[in-house]
Amino acid sequence: MQKIPLAIVGCGGMGHRHMYGLAELERVGLNRFELIGACDPVRDNAESLADQAAEYFGKRPTVVSKIEELAPLGVAAVDVTTTLRFHHSLALQALSHNMHMMIEKPVGLTVKASNIIKNTANTNNLVVSVAENYRRDPINRLIKAVIDAGVIGTPRLMIHNTVGGNNRMLISVWRHMKDQSGVLLDVGVHFADIMEYFLGPITSLYAQTRTHEPIRHNPVAEGAKASAPNPIYEKFQRAMPAQFAVTAEDAAYATINFASGAVGQYIEDHAGWGQGVWSRQIHGSKGSFDMPNDRSGHVATIYRVGEEAINDARLLDFVPDFHLDKATATLFGGDRLWRYEFPFEQTDRKLLAVEYDDFAGAILGEHPAEVDITQGTRSVGVSYAMLESHVAKRLVTMEEVLNEELDAYQKDINDSLDI
Ligand SMILES: NC(=O)c1ccc[n+]([C@@H]2O[C@H](COP(=O)([O-])OP(=O)(O)OC[C@H]3O[C@@H](n4cnc5c(N)ncnc54)[C@H](O)[C@@H]3O)[C@@H](O)[C@H]2O)c1
Repeated sequence: MQKIPLAIVGCGGMGHRHMYGLAELERVGLNRFELIGACDPVRDNAESLADQAAEYFGKRPTVVSKIEELAPLGVAAVDVTTTLRFHHSLALQALSHNMHMMIEKPVGLTVKASNIIKNTANTNNLVVSVAENYRRDPINRLIKAVIDAGVIGTPRLMIHNTVGGNNRMLISVWRHMKDQSGVLLDVGVHFADIMEYFLGPITSLYAQTRTHEPIRHNPVAEGAKASAPNPIYEKFQRAMPAQFAVTAEDAAYATINFASGAVGQYIEDHAGWGQGVWSRQIHGSKGSFDMPNDRSGHVATIYRVGEEAINDARLLDFVPDFHLDKATATLFGGDRLWRYEFPFEQTDRKLLAVEYDDFAGAILGEHPAEVDITQGTRSVGVSYAMLESHVAKRLVTMEEVLNEELDAYQKDINDSLDI
């Protein structure tokens, strides 16, 4: 089969991680791409990715510094893994060159930036796939199947609470800057996606947000080991300042309404100094689900009155027809999994490999991209709905956020992007 000529645009932490994901797909014989380009204005980053790609694939992609240099190479698909501020302009350039695109979450820096991509993408037949990895975790696939089978009845309440992080930098400086991302967007879109994946569309929410820690610290600049999700970040973090003033909020506390009538209770607090909190539960009319952290491989637990808790292979008995897709099953070693155990870096690669397989399938017309530009934009909308609600001091609807009627919080970011 003719492979799809691909370039990775943005060769920082996630660009490298995506390349490892593609290599993982290659390792199991399912890779339908040929990596021919590595694009980054920071030459060292693109060269590093190209050098490592040469080892994995036996062929070195061409290094370029600008996206417009990719079309002459014959690139048909790009994987945009740049910092968020550049997503929408790069996306427009890729679409104008008739390139299919996978794009990292959050799809755009604001709702408006995301809508610009969405509106352009919808006028042509090119695939835009959002690289949202959490829902693709085999454990989340099983949880979704069990919920849909009605095992906990009708979902009434979703609790999603995370607290931790104190005053440490989360991976990079830009994640703490309002005009470049903000942690509530960078991390929040994952949780927005998973909430809608499990329970369907969110219609409105009320939120309080805070900036608890005005100064963030980067211990790696002073010699500590990196705690980031991949060793590749360590060299970047060494070059970042040891401390810096933030411009973005670091905590959101929200009550969420779903179209189904279910309610969400949401805490995303990146400034916790005490006990770390991870709690994701769905309570339904017949029982509840307690869910493990994404990408951990840990087991979910079902509680139903009068029965013992179920947190083993019996989870599969509820869904006899449940099967993972071929790529996930091949990568994770089974098409009916209720747990898995890999070092984080390997789990990370496998989930990114699944994203590439989905992207290839969409390009080849086998199915639509699972997380499309509309869903990716909705996740951005949920995160900004929280920030807009705090400013507006009221419950806000997803509709008014998604159609940009309510944008007081985002206005200065949009102005800085000139959109
Ligand atoms: N899904 C996940 O689990 C996950 C994890 C980490 C990051 N991400 C996402 O991936 C994206 C990148 O994050 P990161 O951690 O790799 O950031 P990073 O800062 O490590 O890397 C960003 C790279 O983009 C490059 N870049 C900037 N402008 C560019 C342009 N115009 N053309 C080409 N390259 C350009 C930078 O030089 C840098 O090499 C963000 O959207 C982030 O939210 C997702």
